[in-house]
Amino acid sequence: MTIKIKTPTELQAMRIAGKLAADVLEMIAPHIVPGANTGELNQIMHNFMVNEQGTIPATLNYHGFPASCCISVNHVVCHGIPDFKKSLKNGDIVNIDVTVIKNGYHGDTSRMFEVGDVKPFAHRLCQVAHECLWLGIAQVKPDATLWDVANAIQTHAEHNNFSVVREYCGHGIGAEFHEEPQILHYATPELKDIVLKPGMVFTIEPMINLGKSGVKLLGDHWTVVTRDRKLSAQWEHTLTVTPTGYEIFTLRTGEQPVLPNIE
Ligand code: MF3
Ligand code: CO
Ligand code: CO
Repeated sequence: MTIKIKTPTELQAMRIAGKLAADVLEMIAPHIVPGANTGELNQIMHNFMVNEQGTIPATLNYHGFPASCCISVNHVVCHGIPDFKKSLKNGDIVNIDVTVIKNGYHGDTSRMFEVGDVKPFAHRLCQVAHECLWLGIAQVKPDATLWDVANAIQTHAEHNNFSVVREYCGHGIGAEFHEEPQILHYATPELKDIVLKPGMVFTIEPMINLGKSGVKLLGDHWTVVTRDRKLSAQWEHTLTVTPTGYEIFTLRTGEQPVLPNIE
């Protein structure tokens, strides 16, 4: 396996792509309300990317994916397909995952939205998944390993009696959407051999389930759901390793780290 080290010029391009991806999530936020139609949300984001940003929606036609973002509601783990027959309702939790291409480089980010008033356990799942992302990010620095990232995420999820999805993971990113290495969100011994170095760029994107970790692919060959049909939550950032730690490329305006009070 070879993990690309990006040049300063490439890092600058990814900084721009990352910010543009974050801007799409900021733009769509006020539209996430009860009754919002997921096909229409996709159309709003597509038009913004293509017409306002001059970005390419990386998911559109990616291995045949039919939309410009993924919208994953409730028990959908990831790769939910926006659908004019589906609208959000009060109490839903929804992940919107956006990847843009600008000047040949990718920026990939996702976040949860709570639609109207959600149940306390659903809110808690979204919050813990968010903390898992930030705890993983906090491990990133030169000579740390991908085990450190995975272990921080898994430990926090399981401490809260949630589970970590095994079948999908984060990824290196750059001129390609999905590059090496895979960024697992659960710890395995082999991960200790993957050592972080300045200039690596990858995503961290833990999928955390309320119930068991098992997932199932639906008949559309894209939509991934929890086997037990309980809720799932995911947050994602694109970041690089710097000489002293990390730099996140997909931060939203005013976004601050969300770290738990560990008892
Ligand atoms: N954005 C997703 C990720 O975080 C990938 C979506 S691929 C698609 O890696 F084809 F499903 F859109
Ligand atoms: Co993504
Ligand atoms: Co990703």
